[in-house]
Amino acid sequence: MKILENTALTYDDVLLVPQYSNVDSRRTLSTQAKLTKEITLQIPIVSANMDVVTESEMAIAMAREGGMGIIHRFLSIDEQARQIERVKKAESFMVEDPISMTTMHTVGDIKKIVAETGSGGILILDEAEKLAGIVTTRDLLFEHDDQKPITELMAKKVVTASPNISLSEAENLLHQNRIEKLPLVNSEGRVAGLVTLKDIMKITQYPKATKDSRGRLMVGAAVGVRDKEMRRVEAALQAGADCIVVDIAHGDSHLEIEMVQNIRRHFPKAQIIGGNVATADGTKRLIDAGVDAVKVGVGPGSICITRLVAGSGVPQLSAVIECVAAADSANVPVIADGGIRHPGDLAKAIAAGAQTAMIGSLLAGTDESPGMIMTRKGHKYKASRGMASREAAIDRNRKEGNDLTQEEIDEYVAEGVEAAVPYRGKAREVLTQLIGGLQSGMSYSGAHSLKEFQEQAIFVRMTGAGLRESGPHDVETLG
Ligand code: XMP
Repeated sequence: MKILENTALTYDDVLLVPQYSNVDSRRTLSTQAKLTKEITLQIPIVSANMDVVTESEMAIAMAREGGMGIIHRFLSIDEQARQIERVKKAESFMVEDPISMTTMHTVGDIKKIVAETGSGGILILDEAEKLAGIVTTRDLLFEHDDQKPITELMAKKVVTASPNISLSEAENLLHQNRIEKLPLVNSEGRVAGLVTLKDIMKITQYPKATKDSRGRLMVGAAVGVRDKEMRRVEAALQAGADCIVVDIAHGDSHLEIEMVQNIRRHFPKAQIIGGNVATADGTKRLIDAGVDAVKVGVGPGSICITRLVAGSGVPQLSAVIECVAAADSANVPVIADGGIRHPGDLAKAIAAGAQTAMIGSLLAGTDESPGMIMTRKGHKYKASRGMASREAAIDRNRKEGNDLTQEEIDEYVAEGVEAAVPYRGKAREVLTQLIGGLQSGMSYSGAHSLKEFQEQAIFVRMTGAGLRESGPHDVETLG
């Protein structure tokens, strides 16, 4: 037995000491950060790979705002791949494989495909698979004869462009011709893509969006550590996942390390995030195994009871500081995972050296998380729960067609709880508050970038009295 002499701290134990600042406008401060060695985000936030937080809807919202979502692993391999594909297809400047039908189809056939896919325009190909026309939802709107051949309804004069067209050239063509869809046709007359006005508008609407080299939103996928999970890795990468999170509560373990090594061996170019760890040694072991980022946090999460059940963990601020010190020389970014309750916590996590933070329950309360809004005593809530909670285990097994017996349920040692979190509207609103707080924190430290913030930050420890003074006190808050 050994007892460490230094006191470990968490977010509520410290404050950032205000320093001279020549920042004019805090809202223009860059919050660009590295998620992994090769992935850069414009906002340093990832949504947690929890089944109450991140599926495709959340991942799309996160990437549009400049962060990233990690699709949880408590789905079948096929379903997780579908969720990833949905994110990859959500927007890009051009659709590479647009939906097409043939001149043999009827109005009814096209309506069915439009209803199934939600597509706003279908390309019609002739027998030689060359573009013959285009049908948009507007053309179908007042057409009641489902038997009518589509050739009688489609627009035959179609403005097209080369697949190599640039974004601004495409914008010009759409504008000059007052059209919303621009099929891209190669020199053989075959369709090679489609540019839509809607997609171009989304690009300007979300200037910080996290995109891959093909203009698609980026998304991550969580996987487990068992051998069979290599199939999940393969399916996720095939579907377009931009990074793989090897997800295990105790990441400083042979299971995690072997999985990381296995992925690295089979998919040398994959961006791998390993975790969770809470020590310098754990961080080094993951880096040696080949990770591109280290996720830090044992027990700080809002729905975690690991520290109560196992008595194990490290208060999060100290864990981040220690792991960053170990990861810095290898240039491997650290993700501070769990325990962010206020924007100021995010500022402290980043000032402590984390490049990004992973957030669970704060985002579980938003529209984009899976699950319904509940109303209790006039207030709106959504559900959150630990992935190691009893309820999550029961659900997971049920989904796999394996109902747990009462005995198995009683024997399950939960390290997470189920909870209700206040409904918080759109994820964008939560992210705006978090980023606004982070930028204010940077400004109070006189920093113009996250790098400067980390170099200049000075923490001061406080007592319980300091903490009480830090929140609203001696007033009755309204709302
Ligand atoms: P927040 O505080 O943002 O934390 O809700 C989210 C993180 O909590 C972790 N997590 C768990 N930890 N038992 C734990 O000890 C659990 O059941 C559990 N479920 C999630 C996870 O790291 C997540 O990102």
